[in-house]
Amino acid sequence: MKAKEYQKVITELANKADLAIHIVDKAYHSIVYNENMAIVEKIQREDVLGKPFLEVFSHIEKEDSTLWQALSNRKSTINVEQTYQNAYGKQVTSVNSTYPVFGEDGEVIAAFEIARDITGIKDMSETLLALQSEARPAKAKTAEKPMIRRYTFDDIKGNNREFKSVINRAKRASNSSASVFIYGETGIGKELFAQSIHYASERKNGPFLAQNCAAIPESLLEGILFGTTKGGFTGAVDRAGLFEQANGGTLLLDEISAMPYDLQSKLLRVLQEEYIRRVGGSKDIPVDVRIIATVNRDPQKLIEEGRLRSDLYYRLNIINIDIPPLRERRDDILELTDEFIKKDNEKFGKEIWMLSEKAKEKLISHDYPGNVRELRNLITAAVSMADREHVLTENMLMFVEGAEPRKQIDKFRLSDDNLDDYLEMVEKSIIKEALAASDGNISKAAELLAIKRQTLQHKLRKYGM
Ligand SMILES: Nc1ncnc2c1ncn2[C@@H]1O[C@H](COP(=O)(O)OP(=O)(O)OP(=O)(O)O)[C@@H](O)[C@H]1O
Ligand SMILES: [Mg+2]
Repeated sequence: MKAKEYQKVITELANKADLAIHIVDKAYHSIVYNENMAIVEKIQREDVLGKPFLEVFSHIEKEDSTLWQALSNRKSTINVEQTYQNAYGKQVTSVNSTYPVFGEDGEVIAAFEIARDITGIKDMSETLLALQSEARPAKAKTAEKPMIRRYTFDDIKGNNREFKSVINRAKRASNSSASVFIYGETGIGKELFAQSIHYASERKNGPFLAQNCAAIPESLLEGILFGTTKGGFTGAVDRAGLFEQANGGTLLLDEISAMPYDLQSKLLRVLQEEYIRRVGGSKDIPVDVRIIATVNRDPQKLIEEGRLRSDLYYRLNIINIDIPPLRERRDDILELTDEFIKKDNEKFGKEIWMLSEKAKEKLISHDYPGNVRELRNLITAAVSMADREHVLTENMLMFVEGAEPRKQIDKFRLSDDNLDDYLEMVEKSIIKEALAASDGNISKAAELLAIKRQTLQHKLRKYGM
């Protein structure tokens, strides 16, 4: 292919790509500058293309330009967050990376910058931080409803021997301020344990904050944890991170293995030195925070796979809590079930007093990939659908079988806010299935569902089915 054709291909590629792209040649001329980049940097493409970029961007010191650094110093700059005002006066946040391109004999022949617009994600993480600071006890004192549900050891049910010894270990952990490392599958009660430890400890009047490390883009996590400083290169605002907000309390770091590797070593340093530095800042800020970290896969495997730094793991693992999955302590299933039925009777105004033998069998033999959360939701769905019966029978238990475990777990991830929607959805799909199985005959469908014909009719009207 001729050089001209290559240029055409690259230009087309850049214009169709979902990224902002800027390429400069070794003579410091911009050879590709796509529409997305023009939007991000609020400059007309024609004013940049084919021109010496240092002149076009003369308002930037050349040493501060990552493209200049790539061309002159062969330096790559990876995933740096920047905030701009775009042409419409809206703040845009992007994550930029700049790389030199080397020719056959190792000289720099070009450099390119790619940027991803993450404004939406940024807004989300800012909202998250704002919400979390609202959830702090300082505000809760003013009689506001605390946003996080407070769990204590009394909420942890189960008498399995091994499980009991795990609870005792956790109780002992609340007497100290040492870091805690919790390993347990999804839905097994890691948050329940973490909060119980906090609210039984000397720090109970301090804040309890939680952050799932997998829920936030890598490039934003550092700012969320350690805070950011105004101005400078990143254009970020002055904001305390979770470490400062959790001062005097406990910070739960969920799925710690999702934290980027180099951030894990920064975290280790913070734990050793007990001060933090905000992103872009130079001041050392002392912090007194107890860390509880969790993973939902075997930590040794995570270390082997290079997802979890072993030095961080050993630093966090001063107190170690391994919660066995529910299928390995089936003797707890019925106790948990009774507890959940009691709560749901109250919540939905129902009167389930007991379980049928078949229902018991079914409950005990299920494997629960979603663990206690799955059991909890299963019972809630059953109780809420009960009419006036006092016995919970096996056909009221709607196991979600055959689905991918991960998908099941996502389905089971409920909060009080979406519980009603979820239950409505479950109920509708069960009714649909029953109607299909009885060829639309309402009496038969009601029989299949073990509810009265009138009840089914009422539900059909309610859902407009
Ligand atoms: N032993 C228990 N007794 C009573 N309720 C429990 C118990 N274990 C878990 N639960 C309940 O199960 C649900 C899931 O627990 P939790 O949120 O603590 O799990 P998790 O391990 O943090 O899950 P994930 O990995 O998805 O974050 C909660 O409603 C919790 O109250
Ligand atoms: Mg959790």
